[in-house]
Amino acid sequence: MNGSALSYKDQVERAASYIKGICAHIPDTAIQLGTGLGELAGRMEVELEIAYEDIPCFPQSTVESHHGALLIGRLGGRRTLILSGRFHFYEGYSTREITLPIRVLQLLGTTNLIITNAAGGLNPLFMPGTIMVIRDHLNFLGENPLRGPNIDHWGPRFPDFSEPYGPDLIKTALDSADHCSIDKVVTGTYVCIPGPSLETPAETRWLRQCGADAVGMSSVPEIIVAHHGSMRVLGLSLISNVNDPDNFQPILLEEIIAEGQRASARLEKLIVEFIKRLHQGG
Ligand code: HPA
Repeated sequence: MNGSALSYKDQVERAASYIKGICAHIPDTAIQLGTGLGELAGRMEVELEIAYEDIPCFPQSTVESHHGALLIGRLGGRRTLILSGRFHFYEGYSTREITLPIRVLQLLGTTNLIITNAAGGLNPLFMPGTIMVIRDHLNFLGENPLRGPNIDHWGPRFPDFSEPYGPDLIKTALDSADHCSIDKVVTGTYVCIPGPSLETPAETRWLRQCGADAVGMSSVPEIIVAHHGSMRVLGLSLISNVNDPDNFQPILLEEIIAEGQRASARLEKLIVEFIKRLHQGG
């Protein structure tokens, strides 16, 4: 959807050098916020805010619930970068376009990436408000952002994916939750589907049989690119609704957003504590 005549590599480099030109010291930790989870940005002491529309070659969000801005500031006393607003396959973007901001972060020197999303629960033990630390994923988009020419200094042609989510980061997230007495925190497998239609009962049953604990329409392309680019990745899914194929209830966007707001304080606490521990090396 980006009509630029520039190569993808040039687009990434142009966006990165624009940001670098405004901010010389880019934090090494970044957070990408998902649907209804934008409140974390409000907790940040913002030093700098750049609208996505001002960044050359950046895609523009078409979804009302996603405002596009890159923020740099302090969160829990630590300098952090926030990508507030993301791009989705269902908007019509390719997975390469969706992940352009992640490549830009790679070029800017980001080494830790926290990705948050709202997701539907498939595991019957989950409930609205459960926070799932992503342990593994299924990419059911039918497209991989690494398809096409590989830029070797960005990452290898055939990257290993035996451990896309570092066990040390998962442990740090669980320890952070314990320390802050945040309840309903579990680990599980996230499946990314194209959307925008939500799942039918039969699809729900099948996704569960495939081994997924939660379903959503985002994050996996970004995680693939971040891992390819040697970033350490933490994925957090806020379970906004639980889908039972035998007693299926309508899934409403308003409910997804409302659950995000209800759970945001717990998620924020977890992230702030996680970032503190990350900087202490454990
Ligand atoms: N399905 C897909 N995406 C979602 C859901 C769901 O049930 N809930 C929040 N995002």
